[in-house]
Amino acid sequence: MRVSRSVLAVPASSTKMVEKGLSSGADLLFLDLEDAVASGSKAEARKNVIYAVSDLDWRGRPSMFRMNSLDTPYFYRDVIEVVEGAGEGLDLILVPKVERPEDLATLDTLLRSVEAASGLEPGKIKLEAQIETALGLVNIDAIARATDRLEALHFGPGDYAASARMPQTSIGTADEWDDRYPGHRFHYVMHRIVVAARAAGLRAVDGPVADFRDEGGLRKSCLLARSIGFDGKWCIHPGQIETVNELFSPTDAEVEWAEKVVGAYKEAEARGSGSISVDGKMVDAASIRMAQNTLNLAHGPKTPPKS
Ligand code: COA
Ligand code: MG
Repeated sequence: MRVSRSVLAVPASSTKMVEKGLSSGADLLFLDLEDAVASGSKAEARKNVIYAVSDLDWRGRPSMFRMNSLDTPYFYRDVIEVVEGAGEGLDLILVPKVERPEDLATLDTLLRSVEAASGLEPGKIKLEAQIETALGLVNIDAIARATDRLEALHFGPGDYAASARMPQTSIGTADEWDDRYPGHRFHYVMHRIVVAARAAGLRAVDGPVADFRDEGGLRKSCLLARSIGFDGKWCIHPGQIETVNELFSPTDAEVEWAEKVVGAYKEAEARGSGSISVDGKMVDAASIRMAQNTLNLAHGPKTPPKS
């Protein structure tokens, strides 16, 4: 599985930001052709994506761009022009506003044809899907299994709030409306995404915090997402990457606990015992699975080096 603690959104219309994004410490980044690009700049932005994928250094990361959604006039050109132009170098397409499994099936069919015409291996281009509408959430399990190309589900909090008609003045952090609801307003959709992703063997990525100067709000939002199982979170500004990478990595104390639990359990098992006590807490086979997740996270591939 790929590492995606931090996923940086980079407007494809800005060559300066594209270069800055590529030299950042983000685990993954996508060049955006959707909401960060004005309608009049889409064609030029596609050319920037092709150039960046073909000629710039992604420093060990997979290359990725976000297309426009299937209900727009831009979608087919995004796919055909970028895949034909960038060819072998392109790894991932992020698909916004996925609402039905048929959306991904359509894309799969189109990709198959473009791959064949370009001499690419069938199924080479992988997909990640944003769940950010009521209809997308209703169909989430079918979407998660729509194609073998799919690697991750992402939460889109701004569009989701708009689709559900939830009043909201800030994306990803609490506003006055959060005080009016006795719980976390996005708990249902966020946990639903994690469950659908895990059941289908996919990664789960939380959406962004729009207020990029609110370090406290970002930390809170990261910890909440990690506490329910998300692998990582979007960043919309390079200043958010370090915090996100830190908070989606296990702490030294977590790793120490996991190693202790695994060690103690192995010894106990060798003695023929199924559950034991470590520091006054019951430890059994489920504890080992949790500890193993922590160790996998701790010893997985590291962030690309800074230049
Ligand atoms: N990717 C790469 N570089 C970025 C960046 C991003 N997402 N956001 C900011 N930068 C760069 C800026 O160009 C600037 O570079 P410089 O120091 O070489 O001039 C530096 O980081 C500091 O940026 P700052 O001046 O603090 O912010 P800004 O006013 O230039 O940009 C935003 C603020 C919100 C416009 C910008 O962060 C942005 O466009 N974010 C992404 C938006 C997006 O993709 N939305 C769609 C998905 S939600
Ligand atoms: Mg969106």
